Amino acid sequence: MNIVLMGPPGAGKGTQAKRIAHKYNIPHISTGDMLREAVAAGNDLGLKVGEIMEKGLLVPDTLMIGLVKERLSRGDARNGFILDGFPRTVEQAGALDEMLEELDRKVDVVLLVNSSEEVVVDRISSRRVCPKCGKVYNLLTIKPHIDGRCDVDGSQLVQRDDDLAETVRSRYRVYVEKTAPVIDYYSNSEVFFLDIDGSGNIDEVAGEIFGLLGNV
Ligand code: AP5
Repeated sequence: MNIVLMGPPGAGKGTQAKRIAHKYNIPHISTGDMLREAVAAGNDLGLKVGEIMEKGLLVPDTLMIGLVKERLSRGDARNGFILDGFPRTVEQAGALDEMLEELDRKVDVVLLVNSSEEVVVDRISSRRVCPKCGKVYNLLTIKPHIDGRCDVDGSQLVQRDDDLAETVRSRYRVYVEKTAPVIDYYSNSEVFFLDIDGSGNIDEVAGEIFGLLGNV
C-alpha cells in the first residue's frame, strides 16, 4: 500500500507512521527525519536547509522532490511506503504523482490526522527526542524511565531546534497557507482520502486509523 500521511506539525504523524509501517511492513519515509539527518551530518544538503528548518519555513520544492524521488527508487519501497511530511505543497503533490506514474504506481491512501493549533503547540512544547536513536518522548504522555535520559541508550534527551512555541506557531501558519491546499488536491482526486481526528490519545487515534485502513 502506498500511503501519504498529512497533518499539522505535532498532530502525531511520526508516532502513527511508525505503527502503520510496522503493521504493513513498509518503510516509514519521513522527510523531516531525512533533513534532520543531513543537518546532523553537516553535508551539502544539511548546510542548505538548517536555517530554513530552524525558522519553521519550507525547504524549496526542487530539493524535496529530488530527495523523495531518490528515496522511492530504493528497493525497500517497492512494495509500498508511508510518506510522512511529503507532499507539503501542491507542486510536491503533482511531482509525486508524476514520479509514481513513471514507476506504474500511484498513491493509494491519504491519511489526514487533524488537530487544533492549541493541541499541537502543547504536544510539541513537551516533545523531547533522543539525538542518538531518534526515539520520541513527551514530558506529559510518554515519559522516559529516567528523567531526561533515553530508555534505549541513556543519551541526554533534547528539544528539536524548531520546537520552540513561537516557531511552532509559524510552522502551523505555513501548514495552513501551503499544505492545506494539498488536502483539496487529494480530496478532488481518486485516492482513498481518510480524515482522522488526531485529538484523542495515541491508542485511540491508532484505533481509528487501523479501523479505516482495514476497509480500504
Ligand atoms: P517534520 O519533521 O515533518 O515536522 P512536522 O510536520 O512539523 O511534524 P512533527 O515532526 O513536528 O510532528 P508529528 O506530526 O510527526 O508529531 P509527533 O508524532 O512527533 O518537518 C520539519 C521541517 O522540515 C519542516 O518545518 C520543514 O522545514 C522541513 N520539511 C520537511 N518536509 C518538507 C517538505 N516536504 N517540504 C518542505 N520542507 C519540509 O508527535 C508530537 C509530540 O506529541 C510527541 O512528543 C508525541 O509523543 C506526542 N503525541 C503524538 N501523538 C499524540 C497523541 N495522540 N496524544 C498525545 N500526545 C501525542
